[in-house]
Amino acid sequence: MSTVLTGIKPTGRVHIGNYIAAIKPALEIAKNRDNTALYFIADYHGLTFIQNRDEFNDLSYGIAATWLALGLDPEQVVFYRQSDVPEIFELSWILACMAPKGLMNRAHAYKAIADKNEQLGVDTDTGVNMGLFTYPILMAADILLFQTDQVPVGKDQIQHVEIARDLAEAFNRIYGDTFKLPNYIVDEQTAVIPGLDGRKMSKSYNNTIPLFETADSLKKLVSKIKTDSTPPNEPKDPEASNVFLLYKEFAADAQIEVMRERYRSGISWGEAKQELYQVMNAFLEGPREKYNRYMADRDQIDDILRDGARKARAVAQPLLEQLKYRLGRYR
Ligand code: TYM
Repeated sequence: MSTVLTGIKPTGRVHIGNYIAAIKPALEIAKNRDNTALYFIADYHGLTFIQNRDEFNDLSYGIAATWLALGLDPEQVVFYRQSDVPEIFELSWILACMAPKGLMNRAHAYKAIADKNEQLGVDTDTGVNMGLFTYPILMAADILLFQTDQVPVGKDQIQHVEIARDLAEAFNRIYGDTFKLPNYIVDEQTAVIPGLDGRKMSKSYNNTIPLFETADSLKKLVSKIKTDSTPPNEPKDPEASNVFLLYKEFAADAQIEVMRERYRSGISWGEAKQELYQVMNAFLEGPREKYNRYMADRDQIDDILRDGARKARAVAQPLLEQLKYRLGRYR
């Protein structure tokens, strides 16, 4: 029996890196009835970057519709919007009081923006909001409030899960054993999914393949994946190819074996990309249609998320009460 939790923030359209590293394994884990699964939209994390009403709204519903279109069953998974669970923010404050500032100074997400600001000549004190600076504390609250055992994520989130452990340990040291220490689940093979230009696929690099592009646009994007200059008929190492890495995630085992041989005997990059597009599109066709249907019926999404938040709060409230007792709020 294990509690599994993961979130996605609405700072861009959900892309295949999010899908392969987080959504796919999370949906697989949720199939095991022995696990308690909590998956959510980290909308207030998104607020650190997106401060446009329509965009924030659209991207948040987009994440919900994505999970549902890919088969999340709200009867089996507690599926909610972070901002519907106020207990998370209360815990976030409590943890903030236990978090040394230096721990935040070292957090990658903040450091990346601070470095970028420095290159652009923007003063760090004005170019970084406090939401971004304390981002890992809110994420620790997301995780610890539900006594999470496992967090399926990509490599870029490992440090955040470690910070959650640090803060759990700090609390446990001061107030006695309270929080479980969470572990991340990161698959070595898919820890960092490369984007079109070969760098990590990221909303902020503008190099993503969004999951629910139209078929045409998906085809165009796939054709843009950067490859090396090995001539068309020469053998290629499948394991060193980003095109093959993605192919493996969408194809059936038998197809993968055949494709591996085709790489070794010399497939052109054009053909390899065409084959990748075919398997991706075949897999995504059905979910894409469902996604569009959910996006056109946001009331239905609201109902599902509201119900999820109710279940999440029913778990969160007793723990928060216990915490308040430990803090000394009651005699
Ligand atoms: P976010 O929204 O940036 O990304 C969602 C998930 O996708 C993974 N990911 C990738 N994995 C491999 N290769 C890539 N190129 C790639 N790009 C993104 C991320 O690692 C993540 O698992 N802070 C989180 C959201 C969050 C959260 C949480 C996650 C808030 N609270 C609690 C887990 C538990 C984030 O920004 O993810």
